[in-house]
Amino acid sequence: MATVAAARPRYAAPVRWLHWLGFILVALAYLFIELKGYVPKGTPLRDALKQYHFWAGIGVLVLLLPRVWARARYGTPPVTPTPAGWMELLGRLTHLALYLFLLVQPLLGLIVLQLDGDSVNFFGGLTLPSFLATPNHELAHDFEEVHETIGEVFYWVIGLHVLAALWHHFVSRDNTLKRML
Ligand code: HEM
Ligand code: HEM
Repeated sequence: MATVAAARPRYAAPVRWLHWLGFILVALAYLFIELKGYVPKGTPLRDALKQYHFWAGIGVLVLLLPRVWARARYGTPPVTPTPAGWMELLGRLTHLALYLFLLVQPLLGLIVLQLDGDSVNFFGGLTLPSFLATPNHELAHDFEEVHETIGEVFYWVIGLHVLAALWHHFVSRDNTLKRML
């Protein structure tokens, strides 16, 4: 007799894939810009790492629209056993903050480049140029500081998010994490 696997509640495939792809791109954006700090100024590797940072960050932005669409289309599967109300609220707030981060952080990065008169160079000579006639380095610097601060703050927010996922799985022993796998 054929056995039928019990349907387990999971996020829809596009939501899961976009979540993990987004995670990889954010991790790469962080990794490249951190590595850049260890490479001597003026070297081609340092410039390359910056460009890789831009690519990963732009990738995050590009994925956001389909991601939000998929989330709105497919919704959230239930968590069992149901977590405490305050925990659910904290989860919702963290997720909202993460979605805002995925939008605002790449946009800020792009604004910095535009104000600095810098371009992003993709494969095949494809370039995203700066559209400003005259760069404004002072304003670019201000935006860069905001971009860096948000980058630092979200190390913590992402850390909290990951800890919460592990807490649900290993301590509360609910299906929060399994729904995303
Ligand atoms: C989720 C996406 C992103 C994250 C998490 C992120 C994070 C960061 C962090 C943490 C830094 C500071 C590094 C330091 O302290 O020196 C940084 C710098 C920077 N980011 Fe991003 N970023 C993202 C997307 C982007 C995008 C899309 C662009 C532009 C296309 C961009 C442009 C820049 C620039 C110009 C800097 C300054 C680089 C330098 O030090 O010369 N970022 N980013
Ligand atoms: C850059 C890193 C990450 C970002 C930006 C991020 C972002 C998000 C967002 C926005 C949601 C909300 C999904 C929804 O609309 O319901 C979510 C859910 C989730 N994430 Fe992440 N995530 C990251 C990394 C991780 C990692 C490393 C793990 C696992 C250890 C993880 C586990 C989960 C789980 C289990 C959920 C479902 C939570 C629930 O339904 O209550 N995430 N993530």
